[in-house]
Amino acid sequence: MGLIVPDAVERYLAGLNQLADPVLLEIARAGEQQGLPLVDAEVGGLLRVLATAVGATAILEIGTAIGYSGIWLAAALPANGMLVTMERDRKRAAQARENFVRAGVADRVTVMIGDASLMLAKVAGPFDLIFQDGDKRSYLPMLDRLVDLVRPGGLIVTDNVLWDGEVVPGFMAQATRKAEDTRAITEYNERLSRHPRLMTSIVP
Ligand SMILES: C[S@@+](CC[C@H](N)C(=O)[O-])C[C@H]1O[C@@H](n2cnc3c(N)ncnc32)[C@H](O)[C@@H]1O
Repeated sequence: MGLIVPDAVERYLAGLNQLADPVLLEIARAGEQQGLPLVDAEVGGLLRVLATAVGATAILEIGTAIGYSGIWLAAALPANGMLVTMERDRKRAAQARENFVRAGVADRVTVMIGDASLMLAKVAGPFDLIFQDGDKRSYLPMLDRLVDLVRPGGLIVTDNVLWDGEVVPGFMAQATRKAEDTRAITEYNERLSRHPRLMTSIVP
């Protein structure tokens, strides 16, 4: 049984997701072997829908890993669009660059290597969509910069803000995550829900 979405429902959703792009499947498998927490195909599909719905031509991603979510995002861009994606792990960034080539989207992707909290000062917006999937303790410190970088009416999408339910007091019999990370996400969610410049919805 999944903690938030039951396994049977996850299997149902996965079964409806007919897209079996071999490159994406291979990258997902490589991510699993390396123990990387990549988004799953259903979240990839959601990112693609959101990017398309806002007519995104400029997207920023924090946390490239090996390029899986980036490929979903870049695939939603028009030929003149651009995904800027940030990764501090050099080896992963190199793998991501190779994967963007294999997926045929490299002409629309710029991979920046380094700590996003420093690199965010160097990029110029506006972005139509920003996908925040970096380390949890940076979510809150980076938020106001991301709000400045997103265009009015654009989207800031943050992965995993329920932390498998761990942000809900009493949901887990025993904590499985670092308390600092759980606290950081809790504070982030509270800030989001009261942020004067944001309209927020949390999707389990
Ligand atoms: C959850 S993984 C990203 C998964 C990826 N978005 C996907 O779904 O395919 C998080 C990645 O963010 C990177 N990261 C975390 N904090 C970062 C930071 N401050 N700056 C740059 N990269 C960061 C980590 O090295 C890791 O590769």
